[in-house]
Amino acid sequence: MIKIACVVGARPNFMKIAPILEAMKAYPEIIPLLVHTGQHYDFEMSQVFFNQLDIPEPQVNLGVGSESHAVQTAKIMLGFEKVVSHHKPDYILVVGDVNSTIACALVGVKMGVPVIHIEAGIRSGDKTMPEEINRVLTDHVSALLLTPTVFACDNLKREGITKNVYLVGDVMVDTLLNHKDKASNSGIKDTLSINGEDYCLMTLHRASNVDDKVNLSCIIDAVDYIQRQIVVVLPLHPRTKAKLVQFKLNDKLSSMRKVIITEPLGYLECLNLMMGCKFVLTDSGGMQTETTVLNIPCLTMRTNTERPETLMQGTNTLVGTQWITQDAQKILDGNGKQGSYPKVWDGHTAERIAGIISKL
Ligand code: UD1
Repeated sequence: MIKIACVVGARPNFMKIAPILEAMKAYPEIIPLLVHTGQHYDFEMSQVFFNQLDIPEPQVNLGVGSESHAVQTAKIMLGFEKVVSHHKPDYILVVGDVNSTIACALVGVKMGVPVIHIEAGIRSGDKTMPEEINRVLTDHVSALLLTPTVFACDNLKREGITKNVYLVGDVMVDTLLNHKDKASNSGIKDTLSINGEDYCLMTLHRASNVDDKVNLSCIIDAVDYIQRQIVVVLPLHPRTKAKLVQFKLNDKLSSMRKVIITEPLGYLECLNLMMGCKFVLTDSGGMQTETTVLNIPCLTMRTNTERPETLMQGTNTLVGTQWITQDAQKILDGNGKQGSYPKVWDGHTAERIAGIISKL
């Protein structure tokens, strides 16, 4: 028997854990214990993904909620230490790069429980990003590192991590390919009354973009430029919603005629809109990968990325906050980037992960 505490906490974790739990079912000797830290707690930020992706109810929910980085990370560690003491897992599996990832990885290594990191090795090189710190530290305390790309393996090698590193592919792509058909019937375009219309799907939540008034204003100006030509659908992250109010940019955005603001969307609705849009404008990590797989042009409002293959091979372009309109116009003029994606993103990553774990 291999008892594995599988950790999720924030929105981008849910689409990563879903296919892994499913693939583990092929190995009765693997006993997963699903732990939700509660970093994200709104229905739209958490439960909707459990419903749509058939993720079982977590056996444990730490209910930590939103706090400063230090308090949130510390609360997760305090709660998770008790879970590990009580359930005594053989391994701890963490995904991605959110605060829940590093908090639980730290607890694991300090308690002598080996940590498995899914999506190991990706690097933006930007240590001002909280996620970059989480990635580097998690990798350096992990016993088994499962990477999405050759680039990620090379990054680990450069940092001296060469043992127990396996290239398995990107598990998010499994979820995407498994749900494309279902997503195409989601009906979200009818709900938003945009059937048959050209539109841009936009998401925005990165701290460096929304916590800075100048950057956020710049982005809102670019949205104004785009919405004079096509509809912009903007599901609003709670963090962004609060910052728009704080910086008094809310009225300006709400007055734009062709901007449709919604609550954060479920996985199927978001995928549906991604599949049918003219382009995606985002600062999300995962959407860079998803648009590359879907061959939909993506403008990423950052100056670096931990997913370089989406730039070199895929449809992604980095536009920061300064070059959004220029690159948007290129796409609107019919010159959007087309591309391909790594062969290992074949939709069978979770099977490879479960296979490796079954042999531990
Ligand atoms: C976190 C991740 C980020 C990921 C993002 C996806 C870290 C450091 N960051 O950022 O990598 O891309 O999730 O969303 O872990 N809030 C709610 N309801 C919720 C969750 C959050 O209202 O269910 C609000 C709170 O005001 C909170 C703020 O959003 O303070 C930020 O939430 P937090 O979990 O700290 O970080 P995210 O910005 O969501």
